[in-house]
Amino acid sequence: MKISVIGAGYVGLISSVCFAKLGHDVVLIDIDEEKLAVIANKEVLPIYEEGLQELLEEVHIETSSDYDKTIESDVIFICVGTTADENGAIFSEYLINAAGKIAEVLKKQRGYCVIAVKSTVGPGMTENLLIPLLEKSGKKAGKGFGVCMSPEFLQEGRGIYHFMNPSRIIIGEYDRKSGDTLERLHQGLKAPVMRTNLRTAEMIKLASNSFLATKISFINEIGNICKQLGIDTYDVARGMGMDDRIGHKFLNAGIGFGGSCLPKDLRILISGAREVGYQPDLLQDVSTLNETQALKPVELLKKHITLKGATVGILGVAFKPGTDDIRDSRAIKIAEVLLARGATVKAYDPLALDYFIKTFPKVTRATREEVMDCDAVMILTEWEEFKELDYRGKIVIDGRRIEKAREARIYEGVCW
Ligand code: UGA
Repeated sequence: MKISVIGAGYVGLISSVCFAKLGHDVVLIDIDEEKLAVIANKEVLPIYEEGLQELLEEVHIETSSDYDKTIESDVIFICVGTTADENGAIFSEYLINAAGKIAEVLKKQRGYCVIAVKSTVGPGMTENLLIPLLEKSGKKAGKGFGVCMSPEFLQEGRGIYHFMNPSRIIIGEYDRKSGDTLERLHQGLKAPVMRTNLRTAEMIKLASNSFLATKISFINEIGNICKQLGIDTYDVARGMGMDDRIGHKFLNAGIGFGGSCLPKDLRILISGAREVGYQPDLLQDVSTLNETQALKPVELLKKHITLKGATVGILGVAFKPGTDDIRDSRAIKIAEVLLARGATVKAYDPLALDYFIKTFPKVTRATREEVMDCDAVMILTEWEEFKELDYRGKIVIDGRRIEKAREARIYEGVCW
């Protein structure tokens, strides 16, 4: 099939190379010509994703900033980034721009093209915002063009693997013909397909991420209680997870969830619920607990040293291991508070340090050894290499459960 992908971010780029690998003709559209040149020339990408560089070098994808290149497409995927402010209001300018430009293309299209939304949108946005914009083409949704909402469930760092081995393919369809097209497009992938309407698909995405967020905040709350009682939270989680209704995954207690998805999707769902007059207390508590959890390492450190004038070393600034992404990383909040309390902060991360130091020029870029020489060390991302360090004689506040760090002179796990 002929596919166009709008937006060369994590989702758009991964989808493009993977659809190309599955044998489809792919055109990748973005407004950022520099980014497109890097992709077209198969140069080293500015983002880290396992296997992405290799796949980019293997497949052919056409890149362009010209939407007219999408005219022949059977499916146009909208993969532009969406962000949400503190209140969950979505910054939808990129979506609106993309839909406006696609509407121009639809005017010239002769075939039946399906517009498929992969960007995370709030409940009802595909129908209430995007379809009216697309219909400015003069064509009607379901007649002149098709519409689907097909959320992605890629985990950053392992996006290629998750694209090729999905847990499920959710197809929210406006009309049957669009759903049929999208189902055919995914035929090369082995996964259960669920077809539903647009709103349900949007909600499946938001509810899935909010559930994962809830599971993490839940175990963090259990951990906070366990710490007071002298119980090892990780043993509790292990015992709980043996019940396959609960499962072992996403029960790692620590300093909470970050990244560009879980916190944002939770905020979008909370705001969407309030808009329809429902107060989502549980989801709000999940979010609040996540924010207070991030400050636990600072509270614990204060028990052992005076922050003013101290040098604190941070091990790990990425929001999780295996990525160079620092969006909503807990390290941001922690560094801010440490600096505000008069501490000097040195940080080390195997991948994400460049972005972090750009955001926080007051934090000193350091090697692992320099971090280990600080007055105290905080472990904020569970990189494998931190399992090999020599923590003896140190003061360590562990936000991510690195067993070896228990050998420290003073060891505090945030919630165990
Ligand atoms: C998340 C979802 O897991 C994906 O299914 C989804 O497709 C994606 O968002 C998205 O919406 O695009 P991701 O943001 O890459 O993926 O990160 P996760 O692996 O879910 O981790 C999120 C955060 O939770 C990290 O900060 C991690 O350290 C934290 N976490 C995770 C815990 O604190 N404990 C756990 O047990 C698991």
